[in-house]
Amino acid sequence: MKRMYTLIAIIFVFLGVAFFTENNQFGRQRIPKVGVLTLMHHPALDQIYKGYVDELAREGYHNGKNIKIEYQNANGDQSNLKTMAAKLVDDHANVIFGIATPAAQAVANSTSRTPIVLGAVTDPKGAGLVKNNQHPGGNITGVSDQAPINEQLRLIKEFMPRLRTLGVIYTSSDSSAVAGYHQIARECKKMGINLKAYSIANSNDLNQVSEQMLSQVDAVIVPTDNTIAGAMQTLVKNANAANKPIFPAAGTMVKQGGVATYSVNQYDLGVRGAKMTVAILKGKKPGNMSIEFVRHGQPILNLKQARKLGLNVPKHFEHEAKTEGVIYK
Ligand code: TRP
Repeated sequence: MKRMYTLIAIIFVFLGVAFFTENNQFGRQRIPKVGVLTLMHHPALDQIYKGYVDELAREGYHNGKNIKIEYQNANGDQSNLKTMAAKLVDDHANVIFGIATPAAQAVANSTSRTPIVLGAVTDPKGAGLVKNNQHPGGNITGVSDQAPINEQLRLIKEFMPRLRTLGVIYTSSDSSAVAGYHQIARECKKMGINLKAYSIANSNDLNQVSEQMLSQVDAVIVPTDNTIAGAMQTLVKNANAANKPIFPAAGTMVKQGGVATYSVNQYDLGVRGAKMTVAILKGKKPGNMSIEFVRHGQPILNLKQARKLGLNVPKHFEHEAKTEGVIYK
């Protein structure tokens, strides 16, 4: 009997020691740190960040408890991007999540060792972040938010059977917007849509250039352009004054005053980025993980905006939006 007690005591001591070391590992020093660098606030990027933090928590990584999330927002400023990216690397982040192309580029320029997860970079290869989307190699992997432009253009034609000229507006310094614009131009050519392009250098140009555009086109498509997403109210004000619809590439921009789109879900992009981050924390190498393309476009309709402009909403689209997408009323 005595031997039995001794044995049980030994087992307890052993368990206690095991528990203690385990706790220490995830305790103060060893708690993993994730850096997040985002370009700026706009609804899409904010949704991506929310999806990221929520999913980390769902996977058992609670900020401040067993993971530290260091969030930096550059507020659209290039020099902020540089210093903040360098800081996250210096602070020994285990993984850095870069939200939007310029943020991801800033991080990539600061380190070739710390694993990087791209958060919603439209064209990782075109932006010079990876050599190959299937096999990135190096320290970078991530998620692309490339929009289903094809479906979007077909939708525009359904909304506007008498469309003569479609306008596209994009920021010439935003490489993701430029990538989106090129894709739109290619598809319009294939589909025989007459496209007229307008570019802005920064948000200060948006009012004047969009006013001019809206006097020359029947409808407007906007790629996933960070500058415009951050200043949608200016574009929407002018579109309403001209009584012309905007068809943006992202659902969040429909909510901001666009009419309709098929869009990848922004929150889901963050979720996917978090899953990749967790895989890396568990030892997977980013260079061996393919860039994820979402492809699936969710139907998003702003019914209030469609009615304001007197547009006929295609019946099947309204039904789709109601059953598997989102309707703003
Ligand atoms: N794709 C953009 C980039 O690479 C970021 C982005 C994600 C975005 N979702 C968006 C921009 C929606 C505008 C609207 O920089």
